Amino acid sequence: MIQSMNEFFQKDIISVRDFDKQKLESIFDATNKIIKLKPNDRREIGRGKTLGYLFYEPSTRTRLSFEAAIASIGGTSIGISNISSSSTQKGESLADTVRIMSIYSDVLVLRHPLDGSSRFAAEISEKSVINGGSGTEEHPTQAIQDLFTIKKEKNKIDGLKIGIVGDLKYGRTVYSLLSALSYYDVDVHLISPESLKIRTDSTYEIKKRFSFTESTDLEEYIDDLDVVYVTRIQKERFPDEEEYIKVKGSYVIGLDITKKMKDDAIILHPLPRLDEISAEVDNTKQAKYFKQAEYGMYTRAALLGLILNEKGF
Ligand code: CP
Repeated sequence: MIQSMNEFFQKDIISVRDFDKQKLESIFDATNKIIKLKPNDRREIGRGKTLGYLFYEPSTRTRLSFEAAIASIGGTSIGISNISSSSTQKGESLADTVRIMSIYSDVLVLRHPLDGSSRFAAEISEKSVINGGSGTEEHPTQAIQDLFTIKKEKNKIDGLKIGIVGDLKYGRTVYSLLSALSYYDVDVHLISPESLKIRTDSTYEIKKRFSFTESTDLEEYIDDLDVVYVTRIQKERFPDEEEYIKVKGSYVIGLDITKKMKDDAIILHPLPRLDEISAEVDNTKQAKYFKQAEYGMYTRAALLGLILNEKGF
C-alpha cells in the first residue's frame, strides 16, 4: 500500500533505467486505485495543483493525456504546445523556459528532440520534471502505460512472449519499453528491417539483464507471440529521405496477419500509426492500442498523484 512511504514524492521521472520492478508495480497499484476511485474522491488527489507542460515536438496523446490526468485528479494545466508562439522564438533558452515554468507550476512535463533534455531540465527546475519523450532514447511514461496495458489485458507480464516490430532504431518508445521489460521474465523478439535494427550502444545495459532475438521476418514468430507491439517508422528522424523510402511500409499488420496470431494475443502501438496497422484490424479482439491510449491517462494520473502527495493517495 502506498500510504506512509511514497518514493515518488517530488521525484523526477526521466528514464526507465532509474526504475526497477517494484517501482513499476507500485505505479500499477496506484493506477488501479485511480481507476476504482469515485470521481469526487479522485479530484481530491491533485486539488489546487498545476501541471506545466513544454512540448518542443508535436504530440497528441502524451500532452492531452497529461492534461486529462491532472484534470481528473482535481488540478489544472498550463503550457506551451506550439513552441513558435512562445518566447523561444525570441531566442529564450530551454533553461530559462524551464525555470519560468517551474515557478508557475507544481510539476512539469517536457517533450524535446534532444536526448538528455529532460535530465538537463530536472537540474534546473525547482519542481519535479517528467520526461514526455526526449530524442530517440526515452519515453518513460509511455513504457509505464505499455506495461500496465499488458498486465491488464494479459493478467501478467512474466512468462509472456513479446514481439516488437518496426522502427527499432529511431523509435524512443522501444528503448524505454525494453528497459521496462528487462525487469520481468519475458521472451522478446525484435523484428525490423536490417537498417532499422536496435542500436547496440543504447541496449548495452539492458542486455546485461536479459536477452532478445532479432529478425527481419514478421511471420517467423507471429503464431507464438502473446503481445505484438507495433511501431511507426519515424520518418522525421531519418537523416536521408531516400533511406526512409526504402523501408517505408516494410510491415503491415492486416487481417491476414491477425489470423495467424493466437486468439488471445494482443496488438499494441504507442500511436500515432500510419499504415503499419490496417484500419480493418481495429475491430478485431486483438487490437488493444486505443485501450492502451486510455490506460495512458490513468497511469499518468497515478504518477502525478504520487509525485504531488507525500503520503501517496
Ligand atoms: N505515443 C505518443 O507519444 O503519442 P504522441 O506523440 O501523440 O504524444
